Amino acid sequence: MSRARVTPRGPLRGETSVAGDKSITQRAILLGALAPGVTRIRNANPGADAKAALGLVRSLGARVTTAKREGVSVEGGALRECDRVLDVRNSGTALRLATGMLAAQPFLSILTGDASLRRRPVARVIEPLRELGADLCAREGDQLPPIVVRGRPLHGAAVVTPVPSAQVKSALLLAGIQAHGITSVRERAATRDHLERMLPLFGAAVSREGNSVLVRGPAALHPAEIDVPGDFSAAAFLVAAAALVPRSSLLIRDVGVNPTRTAFLDHARRAGALIEVRDAREISGEPVAELSVRAGALLPVRVSREQVPGLIDELPLIAVLAAFAEGRSEVRGAEELRVKESDRIAAIAAGLRAIGVRVEEHPDGWTIHGKGRVRGGMVDAAGDHRIAMAFLVAGLAAKDGVTVIGADVAEVSDPGFLPRLRGLSR
Ligand code: S3P
Repeated sequence: MSRARVTPRGPLRGETSVAGDKSITQRAILLGALAPGVTRIRNANPGADAKAALGLVRSLGARVTTAKREGVSVEGGALRECDRVLDVRNSGTALRLATGMLAAQPFLSILTGDASLRRRPVARVIEPLRELGADLCAREGDQLPPIVVRGRPLHGAAVVTPVPSAQVKSALLLAGIQAHGITSVRERAATRDHLERMLPLFGAAVSREGNSVLVRGPAALHPAEIDVPGDFSAAAFLVAAAALVPRSSLLIRDVGVNPTRTAFLDHARRAGALIEVRDAREISGEPVAELSVRAGALLPVRVSREQVPGLIDELPLIAVLAAFAEGRSEVRGAEELRVKESDRIAAIAAGLRAIGVRVEEHPDGWTIHGKGRVRGGMVDAAGDHRIAMAFLVAGLAAKDGVTVIGADVAEVSDPGFLPRLRGLSR
């Protein structure tokens, strides 16, 4: 298994950018597969999850080409049954969204993934999709992948999502645009809205009423030209790195700053980082800006249940930052982290202990007793890209550095992460 070691090397300085957004890329790939004609996706995320989504639509008959300058092209509109099981590897987003997309396609599909994905819950998509008339089943009483999708005509419905999850909402909207009538999806807490912003670019009207999103099907889709902004969740690791290492001053260009994703900035500011969001503009319906970050004195943080959906992918990073602050930090209401690419609550608790931090693990989060400094040590990535990246960042500020076992899993979302992180310290 691959190991990577990061040790303190001085402040992070200069300008950088990050890979294209993983969530937006996968949505563009799936909509490109549904829309008749050629969709072009520039600055697509180059990670393994996006590749898995491309492999999926290719298996379903879409024509996919990738070129350095033009980016990824998906020629869609005529999906057909695949004679094999469709394997989306580690991508929870591809699995859940494709379940919604395929529920309305007139053929049978079987969706699966790697060992980690086959342990992740799918009843959350199966049950609400059934309200639109979908015919779906899965292993262990509809709880776990593989999922069998017997595609059929769907009808619109008013659905409340069982958990605040953008993957569930997006699966329902992808089914809804192909169903007959109006589908409304109501969430108890707002989650990332990338699909809602993208659907009009493909010709599908979207409206909002309170906490509900409405689409009318069947929508006449057309192909789109999508420019993918830099992935905020990837940028968050660099923001944290610059916040941790004294005298750092970093500029990260072209970062997606969709307000459903950026709650981490407020937390990092509250924890002492000096962050400016500049040069805000819009590309392909998404707000984009540059982030300027300077290190400040780190303070403990507190995250409560209602803040969790906006911070979902950044919570491992918040825990790592808290370890370097002096005092007691607390993250609660985050039991959803137990069913991500790994059990992130357990993986972070184990990793923090391994680098000499006192942490209490709760069913729904952690209490972290920071001493203002961290010893360092050896941590297992637990097969999870965000755990690997969070501890690689910790290595920049831990006294003896941090070795991450299984660090190459960072390729799931950001293949260039480690060289970029190392290149910024001087
Ligand atoms: C994602 C939504 C989030 C997030 C995941 C990507 C998406 O999951 O954790 O990394 O692209 O919709 P949930 O929607 O299940 O919270």
